[in-house]
Amino acid sequence: MALKLFSSVHDIQDINALTASALALKQNPYGFQHLGKNKTIALVFLNPSLRTRMSTQKAALNLGMNVMVLNMDKEGWALEFQDNVIMNGSSVEHIREAAAVLGQYADIIGVRSFPGLKDRNEDYSETIFNKFVQYCGVPVVSLESATRHPLQSLADLVTIQELKTVAKPKVVLTWAPHVKPLPQAVPNSFAEWMCKADVDFTIAHPKGFELCEDFTKGASITNNQDEALANADFIYVKNWSAYEPYGKVLPGNEGWMLTHKKLEITNQAKVMHCLPVRRDLELSAEILDSSSSIVTHQAANRVWAAQAVLKMMLEG
Ligand code: CP
Repeated sequence: MALKLFSSVHDIQDINALTASALALKQNPYGFQHLGKNKTIALVFLNPSLRTRMSTQKAALNLGMNVMVLNMDKEGWALEFQDNVIMNGSSVEHIREAAAVLGQYADIIGVRSFPGLKDRNEDYSETIFNKFVQYCGVPVVSLESATRHPLQSLADLVTIQELKTVAKPKVVLTWAPHVKPLPQAVPNSFAEWMCKADVDFTIAHPKGFELCEDFTKGASITNNQDEALANADFIYVKNWSAYEPYGKVLPGNEGWMLTHKKLEITNQAKVMHCLPVRRDLELSAEILDSSSSIVTHQAANRVWAAQAVLKMMLEG
């Protein structure tokens, strides 16, 4: 049966098969153009993007699809997401009409909807993303929602499968410093995918940056970065704001930035980051400019991850 929703790892029955499909598409990008002929994807962004926007467009074009992009935050009408409200404020159009109309123009819709990082219940109930799904009437792919970034995580898994040198690599997700509160979507999602993959997975973060346990079941978790990095094959560097107190940046953890010195205890680890990255704040420039960094390779694999998911949606 065709895939109707891609919002998390739980929408996929066999992640190894999906990863293999992405790597096969990398070898044969244009072999399935018949699937997308006369089909249209609408990519709706409520927040900025470079990689997700371009890689998903390229993936859809490789499959022969037409692509429409709507920067909803800048070019669309201000949306109302609450039901039973009199719309006499700043919002102009209700999600019920907006999503339903988008569904008339597209065969698949992609949605990016970041969290507000103010109200944890609202963010973790995925109000905005779920309303697009509820009212658009066509298959939906997440381009990063409030709590997950599944296309990124699939690309991350594809990259690890492609570049691993041992059967079951040690993969470490390590928290990194930042000056702004960032969502937990990338680390939540990466943890969920790694907990289902055939890897030895560890999460390292300072006290106070515990992720929601729903996403980390099966991972080893430590507050000792050196202990985590020992013998690591892949290191995934990422900042996230606190889950409790929600959305806060807790001071005093600047020493968590990954440096070349810290790589000495690893198994010549390859360093990953979803990008965008702040140099010498989250991750040292010396690593980013070295052969240890695979961030560009990882970003390139976003195309094949997106193409494998869209192919599954178009099939059947
Ligand atoms: N990693 C990622 O999703 O990048 P963009 O925010 O630029 O799409």
